[in-house]
Amino acid sequence: MMKTSCATLFVATTLSLSAWGAGSVDAGRAAFPLCQSCHVDPPTAARFDPYRFNAAGLTAAFQRVPAMRGNLALGAQTINDIATFLGLPDDKSNDTDRLLNWAEDTYMQLLSPRRQVTGQLQGYTYRYYPDTGIYAGSKDGFAWFYDSRTPGAAILNLGTLRSFLDQMPNGR
Ligand code: HEC
Repeated sequence: MMKTSCATLFVATTLSLSAWGAGSVDAGRAAFPLCQSCHVDPPTAARFDPYRFNAAGLTAAFQRVPAMRGNLALGAQTINDIATFLGLPDDKSNDTDRLLNWAEDTYMQLLSPRRQVTGQLQGYTYRYYPDTGIYAGSKDGFAWFYDSRTPGAAILNLGTLRSFLDQMPNGR
C-alpha cells in the first residue's frame, strides 16, 4: 500500500512540474555534424567553452557572426540541445543516464540505492532499485516505471523523455 502511494506520488509530481530546462544531449550530438560542415573543431575544443550549457550565448554567437545566422533556423530547442551536447561532449553521455541520475537525486527514497548499473532488456534501457523493487528507464523516447512489488502492477509510460528533460535543471 505504502509503495503504491509512493509510486503514484512520483508519477503525479513529475508530470505536474514544467519549466524550460535541460536540453537533449542525444539530439545535440545528432545535430552537431551540421556545425562540422564549417568547423573542424571537435566538440571538446576550447572555442566552445563559453557555450557549454549556454544556449543563450550560442544564440548570440549565431546572431553576431554573419556566416552562422542560418543556424538560428534550428530553433530554440535544437540550439539548447547543441549547447547541452557541448556541455557533455563525452561519447558516453546520454539522456537516459542523465535523467535517471537526476531522478535518483530527486526521489532518493524511491530510487534507492542510487547509481545502479544501467541495463538493456527488450528495448528498454533501465535501472533496477533493490531497496524498493522499482524499475525505471526509457524505451522509444518515453520514460517507463514499473513497481515489481505491487502485485499486478503495469509498466507505466510516464511521458516523453523530452518532457522530463524540460523539468531537469540546465547543466545536468
Ligand atoms: C555556414 C558555416 C558555419 C556553420 C554551419 C557553423 N558555423 Fe560557427 N562559425 C562560422 C564562421 C565563419 C565563424 C567565424 C570565424 C571563426 O570563428 O571560425 C564561426 C564562429 C563560431 C564560433 C566562435 C564565435 C564566437 O564569437 O565565439 C563558435 C562557438 C561557433 N562558430 C559554433 C558553431 C556551432 C555550435 C555550430 C553548429 C550549430 C556552427 N558554429 C555552425 C561558420 C559556421
